Amino acid sequence: MKKQLTPIHRLNGTIKVPGDKSISHRSVMFGSIAEGKTTINGFLTGEDCLSTISCFKKLGVNIVQDGEHVTVEGSGISGLKQSSDDLYVGNSGTTIRLMLGILANTSFSSVLTGDESIAKRPMNRVTKPLREMGAEIEGNEEGNKVPLHIKGGNVKGIHYHSPIASAQVKSAILLAGLQGEGTTSVTEPLKSRDHTERMLEAFGVELKSDNLTVSIDGGQQLKGTHIEVPGDISSAAFFLVAGAIVPESTITLQKVGLNPTRTGILDVLHDMGAEISYENVNEEASEPYGDLVVKTSSLKGTVIEGDVIPRLIDEIPIIALAATQAEGETIIKDAQELRVKETDRIETVVNELQKMGAQIEATEDGMIIHGKSPLKGASVQSYGDHRIGMMLSIAACLAEGETTLDQSEAVAVSYPSFFDQLQRLSNP
Ligand code: S3P
Repeated sequence: MKKQLTPIHRLNGTIKVPGDKSISHRSVMFGSIAEGKTTINGFLTGEDCLSTISCFKKLGVNIVQDGEHVTVEGSGISGLKQSSDDLYVGNSGTTIRLMLGILANTSFSSVLTGDESIAKRPMNRVTKPLREMGAEIEGNEEGNKVPLHIKGGNVKGIHYHSPIASAQVKSAILLAGLQGEGTTSVTEPLKSRDHTERMLEAFGVELKSDNLTVSIDGGQQLKGTHIEVPGDISSAAFFLVAGAIVPESTITLQKVGLNPTRTGILDVLHDMGAEISYENVNEEASEPYGDLVVKTSSLKGTVIEGDVIPRLIDEIPIIALAATQAEGETIIKDAQELRVKETDRIETVVNELQKMGAQIEATEDGMIIHGKSPLKGASVQSYGDHRIGMMLSIAACLAEGETTLDQSEAVAVSYPSFFDQLQRLSNP
């Protein structure tokens, strides 16, 4: 669907961004393999998380969703039943990769498949270690691409040194290790988001985390619990940058998740000179959260590299836009993982922002942006990637003239109320 976007001169007001995508997926997955009832508040009703619900319903789990409130009646991993249909994950990499870890513990066969973007994404990062643990997996390109057929059972613990910092890889292996024989541990080159570790503990599972290594003993049973999902900092990121770069703006974002493995965007925006303050912070919650207030700011270029990258990997498209409005040069490196996200986000960010007049070039593992450049309205597209669609919509606020965004419907993957909230902030 094509959407016409006109410039917006200021953004003011208070919004509550939708629930965290990573935490919402895990709440339904872990509730589905727990014994007893799990209740979830603040669940993200984006398409990706609805795909997770639909897959677990196909595996026989009773899940009732009423907007952001979800109830899951789990009967343990052994309560999952073979699905007569393929398990369709839509656009969701988290759904397919974490489910592979869970299905490694079942003795039946399942077929997992997804949309055009999922068909291009590498799965051997999880199928390789899961095969080493004993799961039988077949698929295109020797198990690298969907459709994937998995038959689990007889899983044995491993100590896996992951070549990439990926919470999806770490989580899939830990979930497989849950029912396995012995201890499973995963060591990463840099620390990735730790929602799996935090939430498994909330479900009564014991794990050991030692910075880059997480270990879990097999044979543990999850117990149903209550999960409060904070707002998604990856969704808040669009309005943090919008508030900083659109003139005369002040935006308050309520109850945003502030897990330190996700707050790289706040560190980088602070380095760039953004005025962001914190209110009502709750550090005690298993997933910390607080309100963020951002005001129009003068930004300057920066270098983004190394161990901050996994802490802001999904925010790089919108950080690139911020950099086009910052004085001087911004260099983003060590971010080659962007090439295997919903799209090749180095290519899609650079191509589309160039169409709008930005001085931005791609490198093998990132991009170089020269600011500050005025943006002009253009005909751009999301390529079906939600975060590219939202970044371009914020760019359109600043551009001179009208922007046409093709495949704008992609934003519903993680942020169904995005355009409504943008509209609300522009007419406070
Ligand atoms: C996610 C982990 C990240 C992130 C994705 C969600 C998760 O992917 O990009 O949007 O929920 O575990 P990787 O683990 O592949 O880096």
